[in-house]
Formats: sequence, structure tokens, C-alpha cells
Amino acid sequence: MSTPRPLPHAMSPMPNFEEQALLDFAIALKGHLRGPLRSALPEVYEHRAAPAWQEKHGRRPQSWTEVGDALGEDKAYRWWSALGRAQQEFYLDITSAVCERELPSLIERYRTIAGGDVKGSITLDPNITLPPYQREVDIHCVPGSYFLERTEDDVWAGARSDLGSFIFSMGKHGALNEDKGLAGAAYVKANFPDLKVRRVLDLGCTVGLSTLPYCEAFPEAEVYGLDLSAPSLRYAFARAEALGKKCIGRKATPRKPISRMASLISSFRTFCCTKPHTTRSTTSSPNAIVCCGRAV
Ligand SMILES: C[S@@+](CC[C@H](N)C(=O)[O-])C[C@H]1O[C@@H](n2cnc3c(N)ncnc32)[C@H](O)[C@@H]1O
Repeated sequence: MSTPRPLPHAMSPMPNFEEQALLDFAIALKGHLRGPLRSALPEVYEHRAAPAWQEKHGRRPQSWTEVGDALGEDKAYRWWSALGRAQQEFYLDITSAVCERELPSLIERYRTIAGGDVKGSITLDPNITLPPYQREVDIHCVPGSYFLERTEDDVWAGARSDLGSFIFSMGKHGALNEDKGLAGAAYVKANFPDLKVRRVLDLGCTVGLSTLPYCEAFPEAEVYGLDLSAPSLRYAFARAEALGKKCIGRKATPRKPISRMASLISSFRTFCCTKPHTTRSTTSSPNAIVCCGRAV
């Protein structure tokens, strides 16, 4: 079976031959870890981990934490787990290196697109303060998380996220990593057929993977992508233009709850990176919402 490839566009970071071979290996290794090796774990648990735990504690594990503790003692599980971590670090190293090598060209491409005849817009606020839950952690082990900026018009974090999302999902989320947005739009259409969708707001859009399908699903609507990450938003904006989609960076409208900003608010894989109290404040407090790097 051939290894999947993302659909190239004018902003795509392009791996060279050697980098591509390493990325193919990362996908193959993950496929193996998630396929045959993971399928063997129930047997490892039933025949080794649970009996060993029972011998120590006089009963079988009863909660998920006890199951975890039991498996954590087993060599096969520890190898599987360690290889999973190694695979994560490996694919991050390669995708990071590709985007590092391509950075001058990526910035050039961003500037050419942004300075040309654009459909959408982008608004960035340099004064945004990142919340500690984002600032203090290298999310997904990415150096600098979504926020690393080392030069003017930096798009590294966005480009890495685009390429990285494809490799991470082993190409299973579509050639443009668009399956979440497609599923979200299809769900809204099926369940709210009378909803007049005038403005869509994708909260935590990163590079717009889940945002752009809404442009197609609701061609009359204005589609906004919001995020805290300026390098992701620059990339998202140029990527949308490269793919011929109009995506709007929303201008600041101070102290307006997001429920009044859009007829459809969508968010994928964002609240998993926040804390419950942040989730509440992000969806209710006007100061916690950021639109294309700008508080609204
Ligand atoms: C895992 S990514 C989301 C990916 C994207 N939704 C997708 O499915 O492709 C999480 C994003 O949420 C953003 N984020 C986290 N807290 C935020 C906040 N309070 N306001 C805006 N964006 C936020 C991060 O900067 C990051 O880009």
C-alpha cells in the first residue's frame, strides 16, 4: 500500500526526498504501533499484567487507573508506550526540520500571497498575552508550541502544524486534513436544516484545517478563524487564499460575547488543550476570546 500524501498547495512545506522517506517511516511505524502491536495488548493484559497485579493485590484491577498500573509493570506494554513516545518525537523532529529548511521560501510565499489580490483578511494584535496554560507548555512536544516566532512574518509554527497534522493522522483525515470541518458542516446541515448560517466562527482554528470546509458548505456565510497563534494565523490566511477560499480575520469588537458574534460557532481539538475553567471563560468572558490574535 502506498503512503498517503497531502494535497499540495501554494503554502505547502515540501519535504525533500530524504525527509519524505523519514516521514513515510514515521507513518509506517505509527501504523504498526496502532495496528498489530496495539491489538496484542488485550492479550498481554489478560494473560500477564492482570494476573501479576492480582498476585500482588489479592484481586483483579478494578478501575482504569489500576488497569494502567498493572499494564505499566509489563515489559511489552512499556516498550509499546515508549515507542509511541519515540515516534511522536521523531515525526516532530522531521516536520520541524522540513519547515526550518523551507522557512525563507514559506515567508516569501506568505508575503506574496498577502500582498496580492486577496479574498479574505487577517488582523493580528501584537499585544495579546498568552494564557499560562498555553505559554508554559510545549503542547504536543512541539518546541514553542503554536507560538514560536523568531523572525518577521514567521509562519514556521503554522507550516509545521499543517504538515504535522497530516503525518500525525497518517493521512486518515483527508488530503487537506479537512474531515473535522466536513463532518461539522454536515452535522449542522442534517440537524439544523433551517438554520440561517450567516457568520461562522471557528474557535482555535490554528491553520484553518477545520475552518475551510465551512466556506464550501455555507457559501453565503462569512467565515472567521480565531486563534492565539499569530504564525498559525498567517499561514492559515495564506493557505485559505492558496486554496481559493475566503476566510476573514475578524476585527476587534470589544466586550461582545461570542454567542452574539456568529450564528454558528465551531471548535475542534481546542478545548482538549485548555482547562475546564478556561473553557468556561473562553466561551463567556469577552476578554478571553481572541480573534486572529486580537481580543474581542
Ligand atoms: C489542537 S489546535 C486546534 C486545531 C484545529 N481546530 C483543527 O482541528 O485543525 C488548538 C488551537 O487552539 C488555540 N487556542 C487555545 N486557547 C485559545 C483561546 N483562548 N483563544 C483562541 N485560540 C485558542 C491554540 O493556539 C491552537 O492553535
